[in-house]
Amino acid sequence: MKIGVFGGTFDPVHQGHIELCKTAIRELSLDLLYVIPNGNPPHKDRETDKLDRLKMVEIAFFGMPKVTVSDYEIKKNAECYTVETLSYLKEKHPEDEIFFLMGMDNINQFFHWREPKTICRLAKLVFFGRNGVGLTDEIVKRYREELEAEVFFLPFEMDVSSTEIREEIGQGTYLFHKLPFWVFQYIIRKGLYGTVAVGEFDSYESDLKNYIEEKRFRHSIGVAVTAYRLAQRYGEDCKTAYFAGLLHDIAKRMPIDRQLALCKKTELHPDEVAYPKMLHAPAGAGFVKKQYGIKDKKLLSAIRYHTMGHKDMTLFDKLIYMADYIEPCRDFLGVEALRSASFSDLDTAIIKGIDTTILSLVEEHLKISPVLLDVRNSLLEREQKGC
Ligand SMILES: [Fe+2]
Ligand SMILES: [Fe+2]
Repeated sequence: MKIGVFGGTFDPVHQGHIELCKTAIRELSLDLLYVIPNGNPPHKDRETDKLDRLKMVEIAFFGMPKVTVSDYEIKKNAECYTVETLSYLKEKHPEDEIFFLMGMDNINQFFHWREPKTICRLAKLVFFGRNGVGLTDEIVKRYREELEAEVFFLPFEMDVSSTEIREEIGQGTYLFHKLPFWVFQYIIRKGLYGTVAVGEFDSYESDLKNYIEEKRFRHSIGVAVTAYRLAQRYGEDCKTAYFAGLLHDIAKRMPIDRQLALCKKTELHPDEVAYPKMLHAPAGAGFVKKQYGIKDKKLLSAIRYHTMGHKDMTLFDKLIYMADYIEPCRDFLGVEALRSASFSDLDTAIIKGIDTTILSLVEEHLKISPVLLDVRNSLLEREQKGC
């Protein structure tokens, strides 16, 4: 077997790490790749708890074929050096070929690591870096002469860094191209990196699984984290935005008669009655009020209008409406443009979103609800008046 080993601080793990692992598996034809977060890296101050870093790595690589996340270094109480980790892996896999992955920035420092010669006996070294900054003949020769080692180069550009992610977490940007949204959810559940914590909603998240199927559950988490980011961007309440996003589709799979019963005290638009697909929004608001005793008008209104919208939508209504449209699981032509529009001007994004919906309704020869046109027109009017 060919076994890869990739260690790091992962504070936090990000998309660059995931892409690197995919590239290494493909290019080196690996059968197995160990991803190993380190416990207490020598000479580095660590603020994020090692168990949180491990958990984030497990979330990021969950379900990825050929990847095994190892807690070996995390579990060791003393400082753990690469030579120890590789000795442990070699004992586990005595017959297999081990490839140790590291960034080109270590190319000169490696000679000062603990027992570099032993490391090179245990594993083949693979340096990854931007194409064009590969290994020079001189350095290859130095490795051969001083360490009797053969080194390899893997062209891979890590275009995102954990430092950059830590800074960006505090700002209102989309971010999920760089940071898997499940990892971001873990971050905010625990309130890591100075975020406002949403862990108090964990029990609602567990309960949600009783009402909707897996795919919609993923979508709901996507909406919750996107709503949180939009709330950060527009100075709204992040916690309530997350909570509203989490629950917005809770009534989606309920039988229509139950949805209708939940809307008993709600004044419905004729289209909501005519198109039962729309009912889950008012029904959802009715359900969270009745089942959980939630009275927060802002939250109830955002759930109530997340499908249809209305011409006097509040900022909070709008951000749940758009989060539903652009969350990371959505994959339709134009979604990227809508994502960047949403984080630069919410009203323009809603107009663009409605335009997309209208065009697809026209294409499918379906009726267009006048409410949709009302919302679009009122936003356009405001835009033209510059307010
Ligand atoms: Fe919905
Ligand atoms: Fe939804």
